Amino acid sequence: MEQKKEPATEQRIFGKPVINQVVLQRRIQKLGHQISQDYVRKDLILVGVLKGAFAFYADLARAISIPLTVDFLLVTSRGSSARGRKQIKVVSDLTVDIKGRDVLLVEDIIDSGLTVKSLLKRLQAREPNSLKVCAMLDKPSRRKVEVAIDYVGFTIPNKYVVGFGLDYENNYRNLPYLAVLEQLQFE
Ligand code: IMP
Ligand code: MG
Repeated sequence: MEQKKEPATEQRIFGKPVINQVVLQRRIQKLGHQISQDYVRKDLILVGVLKGAFAFYADLARAISIPLTVDFLLVTSRGSSARGRKQIKVVSDLTVDIKGRDVLLVEDIIDSGLTVKSLLKRLQAREPNSLKVCAMLDKPSRRKVEVAIDYVGFTIPNKYVVGFGLDYENNYRNLPYLAVLEQLQFE
């Protein structure tokens, strides 16, 4: 059979991975295993925050070996997080009632913390039995508000990253690994 050649342009277009597919998948499998243990005999609802969490969410859900309910929030934000003035809008809400159930919010990245804080407040008002957060990435140096993150994939320095769901102006979400944006732009 003819060997399929990797496109030689990939490095030039997409830059170097900062977290490659193997490392990502290994970490996601570990998180899934941990969550499966922690939520045994609970009523787990995995709430994905779209669009950014879609890739991480899909792999994480499949790394969890206990029964769960799948649901999503579609969120947009306007304004800058710099002065804590970011406006978070839920464009599409959950489809299930979370009252008395065990909600795990799945986020792409926690940056200022404003998005997750606002979502937690909103979900807490619906009286779940428990409410926790799992984020693929954490950028603690950028935090504006304090938030507790229960499960973290990777803690990263203050660099703008794209790929694996994360975008820059809606580009790069389909990159199968994480890359630093400035490296992509100057290559
Ligand atoms: P926060 O409200 O400042 O914590 O921002 C969280 C949201 O900002 C994430 O869900 C992302 O959509 C976006 N974001 C923050 N940092 C990055 C990054 O480095 N790359 C891509 N998106 C980011
Ligand atoms: Mg975004």
